[in-house]
Amino acid sequence: MSIKLIKGGTVVGPTGAILADVLIDGETIAALYAPGRAPEVEETIDASGKLVIPGAVDAHTHMELPFGGTHASDTFDTGTKAAAIGGTTTIIDFAVQRTGEVIQDGLAAWHGKAEGNCHIDYAFHMIMGGVDDESLKAMDHLVASEGISSFKLFMAYPGVFYSDDGQILRAMQKARDNGAMIMMHAENGPAIDVLVRQALERGETDPIHHGLTRPQELEAEATSRAIWLASVAADCPLYIVHLSASKALDQVKNARDLGKNVFAETCPQYLYLTLEDQLGAPGFEGAKWVCSTPLRSKHETHRADLWQGLRTNDLSVVSTDHCPFCFKDQKELGLGDFSKIPNGIGSVEHRVDLLYQGVVDGKLSLSRWVETIATTPARMFGLFPKKGIIAPGSDADVVIYDPAGRTRISAETHHMNMDHSAWEGWEIDGRVDTVLSRGEVIASGGEYLGRAGRGQYVKRGLSDYLI
Ligand code: URP
Ligand code: ZN
Ligand code: ZN
Repeated sequence: MSIKLIKGGTVVGPTGAILADVLIDGETIAALYAPGRAPEVEETIDASGKLVIPGAVDAHTHMELPFGGTHASDTFDTGTKAAAIGGTTTIIDFAVQRTGEVIQDGLAAWHGKAEGNCHIDYAFHMIMGGVDDESLKAMDHLVASEGISSFKLFMAYPGVFYSDDGQILRAMQKARDNGAMIMMHAENGPAIDVLVRQALERGETDPIHHGLTRPQELEAEATSRAIWLASVAADCPLYIVHLSASKALDQVKNARDLGKNVFAETCPQYLYLTLEDQLGAPGFEGAKWVCSTPLRSKHETHRADLWQGLRTNDLSVVSTDHCPFCFKDQKELGLGDFSKIPNGIGSVEHRVDLLYQGVVDGKLSLSRWVETIATTPARMFGLFPKKGIIAPGSDADVVIYDPAGRTRISAETHHMNMDHSAWEGWEIDGRVDTVLSRGEVIASGGEYLGRAGRGQYVKRGLSDYLI
């Protein structure tokens, strides 16, 4: 069993930063020592001048998701390798129950895609493509025996993943009973479909119309409706995914001020990118940034409000909603009709760096950076304290981060299976230096040392945040 000491770094956790040396025994963290107090060991990793943070947890990815007539372009192999290089050591991907499918069959298919292919540890949420007596019963089984304690429902995408309010209420009641979290894609799908049809009839076919037909009011309305449905379901825990708009954030804030079990995440794309500058790029270029919820207008206050929401904990988590599609042959499916562009952006490799830029820009504290990308997602989804913290007994998932480094993002150098980058040419502060996953150094100084198949499935418990 190998013993390692990460020496000379600043260990950052949710409660702050301390100078400490981290002793690793095999796959777990054994102890933290005041500088100079640790025993001599054979293998020392020098972290002088660097930040030592828990391996990041991305609670929202879609490897190989079938969507929009194609599949997300990252496999569990390519996507988890890219994640690892970017400092993410655990993903929670969405297993899918297609409409009409038995949940357990959808789950088995997802295990089949992931098993033996992952470079880092992984867990699953379950997308419910149909709420009925059988799937409600299956929820109990997944929580009790399969380590799946969160279920995503869609108020958007009628005819694909959509659930109506009655179905949503039934799933929430079940979740209230078994302790699961309901994750909500909160956009009013039927109303959006009307706006999409009207836009296409007017000949408005460019990618920007994807955003213009999904106004923030329809995100806010669905967010509010989800919150009140959860309230009717005896305050079932509710987590709003990929929140992008100020008015939707207001709904979450109000609910939290009332003491409700309501949480939300946002994603890097909503913190930095905009309807005008990216989705509105000339010609068909904007297709690269078609995702739902959509990028919002730079002339409104969304980005500033989201950063503030992260500081005040009205937004608890930053996930990527990693759902990559290549431009060629995939995004191009929507040439001449924006509604046929597969929805999704790929960023699993860049979340740690993009959020560190928020620290450099004075928008987040160091400890809040670590909380939103690692500790809180682990606590929110029943992975803590195994994941998300540098503490004795926790998995030795550790990132040594160089605050003086620089990261340049480009499709030419990234590891995701995408022929473009949503962040092409961005040069940002900070750099992932070394990544350890369960005690094994899997990336160091730009060299990748891991391998497919070393990642393990992690069964999750219930959320730490439930009352
Ligand atoms: O555009 C997105 N978000 N694609 C992935 C599917 C989803 O709704 O999360
Ligand atoms: Zn969604
Ligand atoms: Zn998603």
